[in-house]
Amino acid sequence: MDPDSDQPLNSLDVMPLRKPRTPLETFKKVGLPIIAALVSLATIVIVAVLVSVILDKYYFFCGQPLHFIPRKQVCDGQHDCALGKDEQHCVKNFPDGPPMAVRLSRDRSTLQVLDPATRNWASVCFKNFTEALAQTACRQMGFDSKPIFRAVKIGPDQDLDVVEIVANSQELQVQNPSGPCLSGSLVSLYCLACGESLKAPRVVGGEKAPVDAWPWQVSIQYNKQHICGGSILDHHWILTAAHCFRKHLDVSYWRVRAGSNKLGNIPSLPVAKIFVTELNTTYLKEKDIALVKLKYPLTFSGTIKPICLPFSDEELTPATPLWVIGWGFTEQGGGKLSDTLLQASVRIIDRTRCNAEDAYQGEVTKEMLCAGILKGGVDTCQGDSGGPLMYHSDLWQVVGIVSWGHGCGDPSTPGVYTKVTAYLNWIYNVRKSEP
Ligand code: ARG
Repeated sequence: MDPDSDQPLNSLDVMPLRKPRTPLETFKKVGLPIIAALVSLATIVIVAVLVSVILDKYYFFCGQPLHFIPRKQVCDGQHDCALGKDEQHCVKNFPDGPPMAVRLSRDRSTLQVLDPATRNWASVCFKNFTEALAQTACRQMGFDSKPIFRAVKIGPDQDLDVVEIVANSQELQVQNPSGPCLSGSLVSLYCLACGESLKAPRVVGGEKAPVDAWPWQVSIQYNKQHICGGSILDHHWILTAAHCFRKHLDVSYWRVRAGSNKLGNIPSLPVAKIFVTELNTTYLKEKDIALVKLKYPLTFSGTIKPICLPFSDEELTPATPLWVIGWGFTEQGGGKLSDTLLQASVRIIDRTRCNAEDAYQGEVTKEMLCAGILKGGVDTCQGDSGGPLMYHSDLWQVVGIVSWGHGCGDPSTPGVYTKVTAYLNWIYNVRKSEP
């Protein structure tokens, strides 16, 4: 054997040398298939999402077995899904319930009950009045918060029926026979801390509202679009107008925005239920009131607070100054919402004047209020509907709901508002039906 030979001793021991792969080859072998897989996966996902978005937009899924119905058939009053799932989450008509036998009077928020013996409203004597009775009274009016009450003296020139009260489990009852009210004091009752605003104006204005001036104002939105205003009544309930919902009855598309004077980017809250009054189909302007129940309770803060309901005996005389707010059109037919909440001061207009020949010719009923200014130019408009007409005495109250009008700001045809005192009973009954 030649020792200088570079032949290995056993050529079988060594594998033939393989040329190393270039990066391009590696990419072709490994990278391309991965990318191809990813691209096809992404395509599948995108197509699936698109299909489901389109399906969801035009169709409603009834559940098993795989059954879709056109969106148009949801909340149309007919059961199109097997179990009626298409009619479950819809705006509900709530008929007016039994009349309430409990109310709060504008005289220092004193508690009154309907005395079955005399059929008159009687004020409640403070003697033997308890926390439990206060709770019962507030529950009867649909409040579930902790009430505050105190004694207030009967005025020397006050001529009142005064009774003592007992409770049977759910309701206040007049004690029979009811002796004289020896304490000489009545019950002043507050079911919920409401109507407090430090920034709200007390003088004539008509401009952009300060950030936390109207903490009860909300925007009610359908498919992310502002449709109506509304007012917070308590942790769960928003008061608004019924006509906001006449076109879109599917509750799941409605949301509420609270806590800002801007329409823009604040998170919106899901809605659990919507109640409207039973519609009078021959006269659509009537009974324009609705209650929206939120899915989760609101947390009150500097910018989220409730407004008070009016006292049932609150009668507003013509020329009483009131405030309106909203994101609605700033010009008649101007077609543009305002991004910032606007406020304006208006006055109660006498109903006879409002119903005159050159105005609404009898269309304004006793359950409505007219408000505006005589010169015209200051009014609510499209997009303000559902928002509050507010009265300040001690605390802010929602005395009206923006409802309708011919044009906006014309001197002879002012804004017409749903008169809230006419519907207190309905409000109490709706809230009580949803403990
Ligand atoms: N109906 C209107 C709305 O849906 C409110 C109209 C108020 N009109 C008036 N002139 N005040 O927003």
